[in-house]
Amino acid sequence: MPETYNPQLGREHSYPYEHREEERDWHWGMIININRCINCNTCSFACKSTWTSGKGEEYMWWMNVETEPYGGYPMGWDMRLLDDLEDDETIFEAADDGETVKGYVAQKEEWEYPALGDDQVHGEYPTGDVVESDLENDEYHDMWQFYLPRLCNHCKNPACLAACPRKAIYKREEDGIVLLDQERCRGYRKCVKSCPYHKPMYNPETGVSEKPVGCFPRIEEGNVPRCVSSCIGKTRLHGNINRGPDAGHPGGNKSAAAGRSPVNYLAKSDEKIALPLYPQFGTRPQVFYMPPYHVPPEFLTQMFTPNTEDKRNEWPGSTFEESIKIVQDRVRNPSHHTLGILQLFGATTRLIETYTVKENRVKGWDRKGNKVVDIPFEEEMEVREGEMWTNQ
Ligand code: SF4
Ligand code: F3S
Repeated sequence: MPETYNPQLGREHSYPYEHREEERDWHWGMIININRCINCNTCSFACKSTWTSGKGEEYMWWMNVETEPYGGYPMGWDMRLLDDLEDDETIFEAADDGETVKGYVAQKEEWEYPALGDDQVHGEYPTGDVVESDLENDEYHDMWQFYLPRLCNHCKNPACLAACPRKAIYKREEDGIVLLDQERCRGYRKCVKSCPYHKPMYNPETGVSEKPVGCFPRIEEGNVPRCVSSCIGKTRLHGNINRGPDAGHPGGNKSAAAGRSPVNYLAKSDEKIALPLYPQFGTRPQVFYMPPYHVPPEFLTQMFTPNTEDKRNEWPGSTFEESIKIVQDRVRNPSHHTLGILQLFGATTRLIETYTVKENRVKGWDRKGNKVVDIPFEEEMEVREGEMWTNQ
């Protein structure tokens, strides 16, 4: 099998196809600020009513929100696979003889409880006590939980694509969205077994599988996916994850900002603040999460880092646990620049290609170079002189 360099792991590993994802001008990417998610599932229903409301699709939630640490759809999807992998082994390296990817098929009953563990906390709540924490001194809540929105990652090493013997799954040239061609599909379900995030699903009515489509018709029109535009918590930002600091003016429009996209900044700048989910699987997922800052870092270390000490030098701390704490602190006390970018979350349904943060104003432009957003932030507070009126 050819080797591919995986920057999320900082090393090469096997992958069945040779490809150079970094050379794509445009690649689908998403940032989710977990701290803002309230588990309202507006995103889940927006996705379902748009894409999976037909026969045989009843159990298909391409977008779902899980409560950590006990939730999971299908049940225990992450722990079951992690238990099967040796330390530092990707799902491609761990594949059994005759297979390209290590995976498992979730049984019917594992798909029956999309809201399992909802609102169940970790730890005990002593009656009569007040929940306190002192984050300055690294004291986290004894009891904690958080919501984890889950969707297809439009991976740069898609396991679904690698596993299909019919080559019915492909990555679109123009934006890296991973699609399943239902005309070619013969229902082998290797994609269902191999995706570590369990997002391709089999339709028993049609006899072929289906997978999330990244809301591609909306992307083509310059709009963000429905889960992004419908999110009432403004948890998400969507855009071109491949657009780095050296890119030119979008659409050749000189009045638009040149340079990186806001999603690229949050996931890839030195101020790394958004992290991929279970990068140790090796698929290079392109949804990046701003981690919850009230949760013990040991738990997040397992979830958001490759679980190997190999690439410590690319992290802000000397251990992954220390690095997660630093990232949590950056999320909790954002820099002025990040604070500007945070205003872009949920600010427009148009897709923001480039942005600037200057003084107390953040602006964004679309792919054609049209300005789509212009927001002041950190406005100064004016304190009026004089006595405060009371009705005493
Ligand atoms: Fe394929 Fe799963 Fe990655 Fe989506 S998350 S691209 S379905 S491997
Ligand atoms: Fe391939 Fe999955 Fe269909 S493995 S044949 S796309 S069911």
